[in-house]
Amino acid sequence: MEIQTASQILSGHRSDFPSLERTFRDHPLTYFDGPAGTQMPRQVIDSITSYYTTCNSNTHGCFVTTRESDLLLQETRRVIATFLGAKDLNCISLGANMTTLNFSLSRAIGRALKAGDEVVITQLDHEANRGPWLTLKERGIVVHEVALKQDGTLDFNDMQAKIGPKTRLLALGLASNLLGTVNNVALARELTSKVGAWLLVDAVHYAPHFSIDVQAMDVDFLLCSAYKFYGPHVGILYCREGLLDQLEPDRLRTQDPSAPYKIETGTLNHAAIVGIKAAIEYIAALASGPDLRSKIVAAMKLVGQHERRLASELYDGLTSINGITVYGQPFSSALRAPTISFTVKSKGAEEVCSRLGERGFCTWDGHFYALRAIEVLGLFERGGVTRVGISMYNTTEEVANLLAEVKRIAEGN
Ligand SMILES: Cc1ncc(COP(=O)(O)O)c(C=O)c1O
Repeated sequence: MEIQTASQILSGHRSDFPSLERTFRDHPLTYFDGPAGTQMPRQVIDSITSYYTTCNSNTHGCFVTTRESDLLLQETRRVIATFLGAKDLNCISLGANMTTLNFSLSRAIGRALKAGDEVVITQLDHEANRGPWLTLKERGIVVHEVALKQDGTLDFNDMQAKIGPKTRLLALGLASNLLGTVNNVALARELTSKVGAWLLVDAVHYAPHFSIDVQAMDVDFLLCSAYKFYGPHVGILYCREGLLDQLEPDRLRTQDPSAPYKIETGTLNHAAIVGIKAAIEYIAALASGPDLRSKIVAAMKLVGQHERRLASELYDGLTSINGITVYGQPFSSALRAPTISFTVKSKGAEEVCSRLGERGFCTWDGHFYALRAIEVLGLFERGGVTRVGISMYNTTEEVANLLAEVKRIAEGN
């Protein structure tokens, strides 16, 4: 039997994404904006439509549609728990987005800490995993920042120096949405465990590219966002079993005081949540296996192989163009997310992205809220970088077309 490569298998699924059909001024629309949000397969869109057409209602009532909504929401939590390798569906809380959940969590954690306690954040992280922890300074909590090195990796010696007996929490990104750097979570766990500190990881940029096992990683908290892995705009918070019960998030007295609900304020976006279940099942169906978890792990491996191949082609192509500086680790040596940032000599990132946009390439310019990293790399004044993200639906041809266009821009044509 012919062995299909990961890319061949995934190319057979491109037609699942209706938005890939769009054109712009006679150019095919080419989505390299996955780090800001991926396109949705029809299966996910259909599941959202189906929720609205069959059981749109609020939860916890006595009639058919509300009961069906309760069941669908619980089933979605179960599927998310499987996606993350969590022990139980009660470890999974849902909210508007990662940022909102992280702010709620930081306020709850702040209440459990006392003045003089320490929290460690990093210079590489998205502001959504820095800002909420920086607000704890108002409560007398000391916030340390782990340094980012010019090669795009975190200084783990500095992390080691900043984690001490007063450290209560380390907030670390698993993968950088600016540079693709994948951080050493095992080392972070070792350092935090030694001093009895919690480890919180931001998996927003990691989840679309690698399978996650919260129990193997041994993290206390993990956050991610379904719109980055082919689902709708919903934030996800994993808390280690029993941990959320110890915390006091902001909540109404009418709200369920138990995990996972106690951090879920107001009415959730039920239709979008149901779409997460469809997104994870969609990913799982890309591979085969005896159960949902093994299918997810196999599918993510497939996606990772395809994306890494394309990202390596892109990285090599960009580094060979005169006048282009590429940031972050080379693919030849590092475990890395397929997200590549670059600058073009004497051209601002906005100008580069606008020119690419005119040709139908969706790429992002700026700092993407990884503002501290952009400052540390000295790129703020020049308007940040151009970011290209590879997703499961991208192709070698799209990468080649992008490279040709970037070359023309760099050559001033
Ligand atoms: C690495 C990372 N963390 C956090 C966030 C914030 O996620 P959300 O938009 O769900 O608040 C993003 C969004 O781009 C991100 O890329």
